[in-house]
Amino acid sequence: MNKWPSITSTLVLMLCMAMATTASAQFGNKVSDTPHNLREATVSGMTLSDYGEICVYCHTPHNNNLDIEAPLWNRDEPVGPYDMYNSPTLDMTIANSAEGVSLACLSCHDNTIALDQIINRPSAKLGTDASGIGIETCATQCHVGANPVGGINFEGTNMTANLENDHPISIIYDPSKDAQFQPASAGKVGGLPLYGPNKDRVECASCHNPHDNSERPFLRMSNLNSALCLTCHDI
Ligand code: HEC
Ligand code: HEC
Ligand code: HEC
Ligand code: HEC
Repeated sequence: MNKWPSITSTLVLMLCMAMATTASAQFGNKVSDTPHNLREATVSGMTLSDYGEICVYCHTPHNNNLDIEAPLWNRDEPVGPYDMYNSPTLDMTIANSAEGVSLACLSCHDNTIALDQIINRPSAKLGTDASGIGIETCATQCHVGANPVGGINFEGTNMTANLENDHPISIIYDPSKDAQFQPASAGKVGGLPLYGPNKDRVECASCHNPHDNSERPFLRMSNLNSALCLTCHDI
């Protein structure tokens, strides 16, 4: 009697259960229950290196990258250069290329550095070398339309190095140049943080909190009735 078919179907069932668990744990307020838990990405059909930890894909306690404005950063700096937003009505000063904490996000979101390409692997060295898989693979293969069934779309996650079609970042928040903005104080507008040496720049993390996806997609606050937009824009 051949016992392999039943073992195979048991394995398939277990895989499906793992995928179902994964799909339901994307919108939590802890990193483990968000798409930023790249261990989960591994079980949902991706073949990323599983380092056995969650924070390590972004942070390391030692030998971190001091060039990036994100604490204990465990990833290389993406080289860009980035094409920045431009428009005739832009009043504030925008950098020539992406800066600061935005480079932390772009180290995955511009698709130039593999998701599991990190500087300092855990001492236990679980997992093999980086797979070379970038975020474009997730955006086009893992979470497209109804795949997995009842699943969610992440198609817009590969931002590439062309940021011309994205809300301005690495821009100095300066309401004195445009009256239709709320005042900033102590490096914040409302509850939203500004970044850079003078804590005056809008960066990706001004609007997004990479640890908390309870206000999808990783928003710092609800955007119901455009409340997030109106925290800065007085319009
Ligand atoms: C996908 C990348 C990513 C993962 C995974 C991640 N972080 Fe972060 N973390 C960031 C970025 C980017 C910043 C800087 C943004 C900011 O200042 O809010 C940051 C900032 C922080 C900060 C300082 C700012 C704050 O919000 O308090 C702490 C502490 C922190 N992370 C802890 C952790 C821990 C602990 C884990 C694992 C449970 C983790 N992070 C997982 C990207 C990540
Ligand atoms: C270690 C790699 C990595 C870093 C660093 C990273 N992300 Fe992500 N992010 C991902 C992956 C992977 C996904 C899921 C993409 C997919 O499945 O298509 C994702 C998804 C997202 C989503 C969509 C979530 C949803 O529910 O639709 C947003 C928004 C996002 N990231 C913002 C950010 C921001 C902002 C930063 C920096 C503060 C950042 N990410 C840093 C890897 C990363
Ligand atoms: C001014 C606020 C703001 C800034 C700055 C910002 N985002 Fe977003 N982002 C949003 C909002 C709001 C959404 C949700 C849009 C929606 O669902 O209609 C979003 C959606 C996303 C998504 C989901 C895909 C999509 O197209 O909807 C990703 C990924 C993302 N942002 C990453 C980033 C990264 C990386 C940066 C920096 C390069 C960044 N964001 C800067 C507000 C911002
Ligand atoms: C953290 C503050 C902040 C948040 C939140 C924010 N913005 Fe902005 N936005 C800015 C700044 C700063 C500029 C640059 C304004 C300038 O130079 O005149 C800008 C520029 C823009 C522009 C381009 C203006 C132009 O003249 O080309 C549009 C449109 C815009 N934002 C829409 C939005 C929308 C929609 C949202 C919500 C999804 C949003 N913003 C959230 C700070 C913010």
